[in-house]
Amino acid sequence: MAAAAAARLLRLAPRRLQVPKASPIAALSFPLQRTAPLAAASGRRQRFCAAAHASTPAPAPAAAATGAAGEAVGEFRKRLRVADVKGGEDEGAAWVGKELAVRGWVRTCRAQRTVTFVEVNDGSCLSNMQCVLTPDTEGYDQIDSVTIGASVLVEGVVASSQGSKQKVELKVSKITVIGKSDPTSFPIQKKRASREFLRTVAHLRPRTNTFGAVARVRNALAYATHKFFQDNGFVWVSSPIITASDCEGAGEQFYVTTLLSNSAEGGSLLKDIPATKDGRVDWSQDFFCKPAFLTVSGQLNGETYASALSDIYTFGPTFRAENSNTARHLAEFWMIEPELAFADLNDDMACATAYLQYVVKYILENCKEDMDFFNTWVEKGIIDRLNDVVEKNFIHLSYTDAVELLLGSKKEFEFPVKWGLDLQSEHERYITEVALGGRPVIIRDYPKEIKAFYMRENDDGKTVAAMDLLVPRVGELIGGSQREERLDYLEARLDEQNLNKESYWWYLDLRRYGSVPHAGFGLGFERLVQFATGIDNIRDAIPFPRVPGSAEF
Ligand code: 4AD
Ligand code: MG
Repeated sequence: MAAAAAARLLRLAPRRLQVPKASPIAALSFPLQRTAPLAAASGRRQRFCAAAHASTPAPAPAAAATGAAGEAVGEFRKRLRVADVKGGEDEGAAWVGKELAVRGWVRTCRAQRTVTFVEVNDGSCLSNMQCVLTPDTEGYDQIDSVTIGASVLVEGVVASSQGSKQKVELKVSKITVIGKSDPTSFPIQKKRASREFLRTVAHLRPRTNTFGAVARVRNALAYATHKFFQDNGFVWVSSPIITASDCEGAGEQFYVTTLLSNSAEGGSLLKDIPATKDGRVDWSQDFFCKPAFLTVSGQLNGETYASALSDIYTFGPTFRAENSNTARHLAEFWMIEPELAFADLNDDMACATAYLQYVVKYILENCKEDMDFFNTWVEKGIIDRLNDVVEKNFIHLSYTDAVELLLGSKKEFEFPVKWGLDLQSEHERYITEVALGGRPVIIRDYPKEIKAFYMRENDDGKTVAAMDLLVPRVGELIGGSQREERLDYLEARLDEQNLNKESYWWYLDLRRYGSVPHAGFGLGFERLVQFATGIDNIRDAIPFPRVPGSAEF
């Protein structure tokens, strides 16, 4: 019954945006060059950026030529990496017979009777370079230091490999140990370690297959995000990290203050914190002369630039002091917040759909090796699931229909289902995972009481033009809305929610001077990484997670 209701409600998102074609990974565009002598060994790195240091005036050509003003900075050339050699269709076959130098970290070292196999990973891709050494190899006398975790430079010639795991390997003529690693104390051993354990060694976990792959896919998602918005004419705006306004009005902000740092020896005494006559903290004596916070969202600042440049997006860190110890919450996370001027909720939903489909398609096309790894080891079937996201339309549902669907399910939920109450994660997951068979769903038009003050009131006077995009496993991936562009409505909403109108004076000015209908959304970047990799805990989707009780590293 739920599925039939959903099918009735299925419809196409209006498309306003052009979806740029994702480009396949760039082929190597330069010939193999004889690698320069080892930088670390010679104490001098051979390749530097060609740009002069900003504070150093460029020397006159004559001076540069004579070396009077110091040695000229060398030309920057891309260094060859394992991905460049093994990442092509032929898995490196075209490189057979060519000289190559690999710099990386030892994953394993297996000594056999006449040869020693060393697996070296340089982080450019999941694959290691299998390096084959014999006792004749220059530097073989250091073989005892070629242990798990050590950094090495291996130079040699690419050869066809007899092994079934790789097409090519490196016949090593010279090995140099750059940094030793004690194999008995190195925390990451060859056997599989749990993700919980790896969180305790977050400084070393990028050296594992899983975290290397997550880092590369996260990077590709960030690149695709900028590419999507840039190709569609959006301007990237840096919203401030320190703010005096509370965008979501939920009071989940971290204070930014210097009042606590004034007394020496182990923190401030309460008596040293300046107070007003009635015993409250005297913020006028603080750094910003008023309470200041880490931002929970760049939206309000984003709206100001959308009210001048039309379409903008922010992409930066945001902070929430909510005490949620779940697999979907971080205290510090990155958010992408586009804001579209002259746009309504339908435009917003179309943008969110096109954006999500674009970035997912991008990683399917450009991160094949890492995605195959996730498909095999992290979430079986993730590639099919993501292909469906790219190819099938998202389902649209009003909040009222969603409540009906939940009530009609006859399922026992922990939290009550009733029109006017917010949907909990168990409800959201039931809708996308069970009722709608794993399809992303956009729920719109929520009761105004449960949503933020800036959302535009619908004509029914009861709901606002809000939308949440829900996906299987993660739940809410995107939250967005059409913004209230009418000054009187917005002021009334601020009053209703007991928010101080004066402190929003500049935000209200946007409604006083050339107000336009506009809309936007926020996507939690780590939730996108979770969704796209199948990693089930958000703490593994960001390099250094910040959660209640933990800010290590
Ligand atoms: O739904 P939220 O709170 O919306 C806003 O902040 C709006 N100002 C966005 C806008 O319209 N420009 O948060 C947006 C998204 C959520 O859907 C979720 O993906 C993510 O941010 N998010 C979190 N991610 C990780 N940890 C948390 N504690 C998060 N809180 C929200
Ligand atoms: Mg939300």
